[in-house]
Amino acid sequence: MELIQTQDYAEMSRVAAEILIKEIKTNPQAVLGLATGSTPAGTYEALIRDHEQHGTSYKQVHTVNLDEYIGLDQSDPNSYKSFMKAHLFNAIDLPETHAFLPNGEATDIQEECRRYDEKIRQLGGVDLQVLGIGQNGHIGFNEPGSSFSMTTHVVELTHNTRKANARFFKQLKDVPTHAITMGIKNILESRRVLLLASGSSKAEAMARLLNAEQPDEAFPASALYLHPHVTIIADKEALALVE
Ligand code: F6R
Repeated sequence: MELIQTQDYAEMSRVAAEILIKEIKTNPQAVLGLATGSTPAGTYEALIRDHEQHGTSYKQVHTVNLDEYIGLDQSDPNSYKSFMKAHLFNAIDLPETHAFLPNGEATDIQEECRRYDEKIRQLGGVDLQVLGIGQNGHIGFNEPGSSFSMTTHVVELTHNTRKANARFFKQLKDVPTHAITMGIKNILESRRVLLLASGSSKAEAMARLLNAEQPDEAFPASALYLHPHVTIIADKEALALVE
């Protein structure tokens, strides 16, 4: 596990974007696994700037997102599809048909989970998976206790995760109770993982991750100890409690 410490969020975002851009330049047909949330937003901004200034092209890239809420209209501003359009997709030349997210509006959700796994397989797997981390160590929406052998599945969100995400909604009760998420197994099958963390709210999770040094299903991010190529990019505040 490689650890890159940055001064702040801006530097974390810049370093992460550089790694992604290098991946796309080396492999123009790369399959990128993407996350939503506050953490990768700055990285996506840096990708957009680079696309505008240097013309890095996403025409042959495919993307698969980690997760999506169940029961939100895809056009709802809080759906992860809307997030990705607003924060990245609308500003780069990624063809719309190359961007995949689980469909949280599917009538048969179990079938949708199988379809999503199959889609990832058809694309040849994920070359580079971007992850954020929840305060409780969740990655994707794999909450503590999730089996590391699960592929895409439905999860009931914990109260804390809904509370953390309520900042994007009018009120807590508007935050969906369930989501579809890639499983830890999908994440471990990606060829490379980039985990991003910024700010003091992530300090406890980062300390637990970096001090753990072994996988434990009670703390989902620790699954990354089973992966051969993980790069963590975290700022000083996020690493403040690491011994
Ligand atoms: C989002 C996702 C989540 C977030 C995590 C951190 O697609 O999979 O695991 O990465 O909840 O969220 P932020 O970055 O908003 O602190």
